Amino acid sequence: MANRITIEVTRYDPAQDEKPRFDSFEVPLRKEWVVLDALNYIKDHLDGSLTFRWSCRMGVCGSCGMTVNGVPKLTCATFLSDYAPGPVRVEPMKNFPVLKDLVVDTSDFLVKLEKSKPWIIRKVEKPLDEEYFQTPEQLEAYKQYSMCINCMLCYAACPVYGLDPLFT
Ligand code: SF4
Ligand code: FES
Repeated sequence: MANRITIEVTRYDPAQDEKPRFDSFEVPLRKEWVVLDALNYIKDHLDGSLTFRWSCRMGVCGSCGMTVNGVPKLTCATFLSDYAPGPVRVEPMKNFPVLKDLVVDTSDFLVKLEKSKPWIIRKVEKPLDEEYFQTPEQLEAYKQYSMCINCMLCYAACPVYGLDPLFT
């Protein structure tokens, strides 16, 4: 395996640029590195102005979604070595307006999320100092719906959402 790989990243500032462009960077290719490590290497060593979101580095926070070689991916869970010998193209998630470089505006999703009320709505609310109990069966019934990390990769992949802004 070569020890370097080329990353092509979208650069775009809608306030200044007419259209997006790609910048290329050579980064170390380490077998334990994910695509997010490569972006952080660029930010720390090559171009501090590269703009992208991330937080947990462990597939939990849902903030590092991007398009990697055309496919929506969590960049903290996508190994760089899977794309060797490269180049690897990293773009913002599709179907969302770009705020800068790899960061998209997710406001539309958040408004729709709140409208759909994806939480347990109780028949009777108790005072804050009282507990609610649930059976394993009740947990099983809703658990799958609580596993979404709001990464929006499915919105980025959805052809209907991309065409129809009224899609909920
Ligand atoms: S359902 Fe969509 S937003 Fe939720 S975790 Fe899966 S891909 Fe991400
Ligand atoms: S950084 Fe949190 S899910 Fe990737």
